[in-house]
Amino acid sequence: MLNKQPIGIFDSGYGGLTVFRSIADQLPGYDYIYLGDNARAPYGNRSFQAIHQYTWECVQMLFKMGCPLVILACNTASAKALRTIQQQDLQNEDPAKRVLGVIRPTAEVIGNYTQTKEIGVLGTKGTVQSGSYLMEIEHFFPELKVYQQACPLWVPLIENGEYDKPGADYFVASYLDQILAQSTNIDTLLLACTHYPLLLDKIRAYLPGHIQVVSQGEIVAKSLSDYLHRHPEMEQKLSKNGTQQFFTTSDDTADFDHHASLFFSAKVQSEFIPLK
Ligand code: DGL
Repeated sequence: MLNKQPIGIFDSGYGGLTVFRSIADQLPGYDYIYLGDNARAPYGNRSFQAIHQYTWECVQMLFKMGCPLVILACNTASAKALRTIQQQDLQNEDPAKRVLGVIRPTAEVIGNYTQTKEIGVLGTKGTVQSGSYLMEIEHFFPELKVYQQACPLWVPLIENGEYDKPGADYFVASYLDQILAQSTNIDTLLLACTHYPLLLDKIRAYLPGHIQVVSQGEIVAKSLSDYLHRHPEMEQKLSKNGTQQFFTTSDDTADFDHHASLFFSAKVQSEFIPLK
């Protein structure tokens, strides 16, 4: 299909599949290509330069596969690479292409979830250190008090299939204790990493009942739907055969398929795409 113009969805590994699940449910007609950079995941503890370079390389791969629009379904990449990609790289490459992230759409609505006006943001070290959520939420909900906690061991636990094992409990409880110790008024915790929904059952089990947990999948899917309504020039460009393709930079596609099916709640069959 030569004229296929899919929506590209990128993550460092599997996490973006939780967002892709919601997007595919809300916007089923489009063609999609998912790309996980599993060969270099996790990104969370890496430098700004590395995250930008890896993310931009993967975005270019998705452009080459025909995607006019790419969603960075990764908070770490959105925090550390999106601005440079939007303001510099795209201008040099192809200004008609678009790359969107997950932080702004989340910041736009997160204030609607809290009664106490105090929320906790859980993310990777990269996301937390970037301060992106503090800045974006301040812009839309200046009255909110936002507390942050980096959870650097959660992604490795999840990527290694340990998220539902008893060993994960200690690390779940430990980071939750640390964020809740910052304020007794927190009533909403945002999972600001697309991997974390896999830990949802354990997170809920360790939280007091009055604290709600917000994942990003549906928020990002709704925001993409709004974006396509506001941008008919992009919407019309996108091809609509309802296909889904999965690519990973890891040469172990069988391993990817096994884990990915759990994140995506459906069977996944991937293809290997080598890094240059
Ligand atoms: N899923 C990614 C995010 O939302 C991060 C995972 C990683 O550390 O690579 O931040």
